[in-house]
Amino acid sequence: MTDKGLTRRGLFAIGGAAIVGGAGGYALAGAHAQESSPVVSQVLVKASDNTAKVKTPFYGALQAGVNTPAQVYTKFIGINVNDPSKDSIEAIGRIMTDDAARLTQGEGALGDTEPEIAANPARLSITLGVGREFIKNLGISVPAAFPAIPAFKTDALDEQWGQSDLVVQIGSDDPLTLSHAQRMVTKDLSTLTTTAWVQSGFLSPTPAFDGGEASRNQMGQVDGTVNPNLDQYSEVVWIEEGSWADGGTVLILRRIRMLMDDWDILDRSAKEIVVGTSLETGAPLTGTKESDVADFTELDNQGLPVIPMNAHIRVAHAETTEEMILRRPYNYNVELTDGTNDMGLLFAAYTKDPAQSFIPMQERIAQSDAMNKWVTTIGSAAYLILPGVSDGEFLGEVLL
Ligand code: HEM
Repeated sequence: MTDKGLTRRGLFAIGGAAIVGGAGGYALAGAHAQESSPVVSQVLVKASDNTAKVKTPFYGALQAGVNTPAQVYTKFIGINVNDPSKDSIEAIGRIMTDDAARLTQGEGALGDTEPEIAANPARLSITLGVGREFIKNLGISVPAAFPAIPAFKTDALDEQWGQSDLVVQIGSDDPLTLSHAQRMVTKDLSTLTTTAWVQSGFLSPTPAFDGGEASRNQMGQVDGTVNPNLDQYSEVVWIEEGSWADGGTVLILRRIRMLMDDWDILDRSAKEIVVGTSLETGAPLTGTKESDVADFTELDNQGLPVIPMNAHIRVAHAETTEEMILRRPYNYNVELTDGTNDMGLLFAAYTKDPAQSFIPMQERIAQSDAMNKWVTTIGSAAYLILPGVSDGEFLGEVLL
């Protein structure tokens, strides 16, 4: 790493600002949102913004794609390593680094036969993560920050979306750029790896309403509002434990199917009570604006909590900074051959300490969340998103 005069905490903070700053107009939108409210959405792209030429910096102490305001399209690619060894990790890391350093800056990959497609990066980011068993099998110490994620009682997991050795997370505001980057990376890795699955996600490029922070999910809810602000990322997201994982984070990726036919039967007020927020504005039921902080103590005129005890936002709510996660959720929608759709959420959470944050939160959700009746988790995997690199280094070098 460079900048040896800085503490790692300082380095992470600067890295975060630099990455967001790289997104031009988005930085201003983000900074403003933080000043005016305790929450800041990941979704700051407005329909009128043309992001075609915007580049997300690749090199830095932190990998991009985590504190990068969420791009409109994403793909998570689960990859297995054909012949796991430190040599293959080095080869994969070098290829990934070279591809990502070029493609994110609007250049074709080495030997790219369609380099013109790369010319509009549209905030492209390419991020690499490694699975826990994979780290263990290489004989490398697993960071304390990366415990095994247990099964939860409401899970109905399909192995099709299960744990893989590695994940490559790609995001861009342009679906063609994204598709090209996916092809380049998988083609360049093809002799070393096998793709286990690809999970594609999308967001609405516009906030749920003018001046709002987050966009809507397919249940119609404003989703992604309550998140750590950038000042809290070093406490919530970036690992800082004195191990090789410092500057990384743990990604928990859950594929959560929405049972839309059942959801459609509910009337509007029932839907609002299930989550604890207004469908129209995203405000908590105790407030009027999306940015209002939920008051979990407020009672109605019958003495009952306005936000019910089993409402999603009450059950999921983090009481302390240590309990928080960064949510960067995407919608998924797959057309099935019988003419129906499998749709839901690619729930992507990032945390420096799942044992304090995600695991107890998901336990509470599995125990008592009213929303469980309308959603089913069908895929689950977790990865250590590796620390970032400076020019001359390669992703995964810390593992060797
Ligand atoms: C399909 C599944 C899910 C849907 C549709 C969903 C939807 C929502 C919505 C609409 C909100 C309120 C707006 C916001 O702050 O973003 C919310 C808040 C939240 N959700 Fe979810 N969510 C899902 C799964 C999860 C899971 C699996 C977790 C964590 C394990 C989670 C954690 C949270 C947290 C921490 C909040 C903020 C609560 C607060 O107000 O403090 N959600 N979710």
